Amino acid sequence: MYNLTEQDKQWVNEVWDKIDKKMCIVAEKNKHKIPYTVDENGDFDDCATGKFPYDISWWTNGFWPGYMWLLYNGTKKNVYREAAENAEELLDKAFLEYDHLHHDVGFMWHISAGVNYRLTGNEKSKLRALYAADFLAARFNIAGNYIRSWNADSDTDGYNKVIIDSMMNIPLLYWASEVHNDTRYKKMAMAHADTIMRTHIREDGTSHHIVELSPETGEVYKALGGQGYELGSTWTRGQAWAIYGFVLSYIHTGEEKYLMTAKKVANAFIACASQSDFIIPLDFRQPEEPKIYDTTAAACAACGLIEISKYCSEFDKKNYFDAAVKILKRIDDGAADYTTDNDNLLNYGSEAYYPGRGEAGLNTAIIYGDYYYTEAIYKLKGFKELFW
Ligand code: GLY
Repeated sequence: MYNLTEQDKQWVNEVWDKIDKKMCIVAEKNKHKIPYTVDENGDFDDCATGKFPYDISWWTNGFWPGYMWLLYNGTKKNVYREAAENAEELLDKAFLEYDHLHHDVGFMWHISAGVNYRLTGNEKSKLRALYAADFLAARFNIAGNYIRSWNADSDTDGYNKVIIDSMMNIPLLYWASEVHNDTRYKKMAMAHADTIMRTHIREDGTSHHIVELSPETGEVYKALGGQGYELGSTWTRGQAWAIYGFVLSYIHTGEEKYLMTAKKVANAFIACASQSDFIIPLDFRQPEEPKIYDTTAAACAACGLIEISKYCSEFDKKNYFDAAVKILKRIDDGAADYTTDNDNLLNYGSEAYYPGRGEAGLNTAIIYGDYYYTEAIYKLKGFKELFW
């Protein structure tokens, strides 16, 4: 990793302290919940008691406990650990609603139970994460060489939808291979990553969100615009999933092709981001108006860029690292709320560009924005444990 200047070190320390000061209070208030967003009063909602789809099987339910573990590991304050452990127990119910689960079991259990096990050695947590890994492995299509993202009700014309987000789920399989001392999980993860490289990453380093694949051969049926602006545009969170996901595949396997892919996607991201002064929109090719931002994409991309910077030549190191710091400073300046007036840390996260949905899910609070921003600052503070 590139070294921070003295001034930036001070900035990082201040941001970390502001997050901790706020979140001590917010964690105590919400320690029996699994939040996703906030209500009109700025209070966290609760997916543990929420209604479908924002219920116990909602794909983001690992981020709150993961966020709490980041803060616990960085401060050793018990309130964070308590909130993380409570959420992990609540999540057990999702295992029983088996038919509501999907490939996002990586997001749900790798940074909740998986991190608990890796930090504390909790055996029950290890089992939870291994159950999740087995569930994910069982979704592998051996003829097509991919992990099925969603369930049968999402298929079109008999083709399975496979999404770029999956790159963040497969670290659970790399971990399971190590724990079981069994390369099956890793081989499935690598076969999937190879397919995504072939089917989702475009020549110019931008990416498709959704590609429909044949379950018989793995051949591409067609690409879809998904949560981005339109077919062929550049959904920024998809780019972020790919940047961080491919560098993680490199870290876990040592395969250069994954690092090269992470850099290729990162280069496209940085080129586009530099056009908007590193303030990240929902889609790099969306119209000027309305202004829709996505701090979740920004923060996740920053995490990936920081990791890439650890595996580069001196020149490239600075390039990726500086881009990450610029992105984080834009969030700090314009989107972070360090007060306790609202439970969320970041504003201006956006779910998707779905015309007809009005303002819903746009420029708002989303838990994984808070998670990735905190993870990025945690990395810059010099904490070493990799959560993925
Ligand atoms: N994984 C779904 C999303 O990024 O919105």
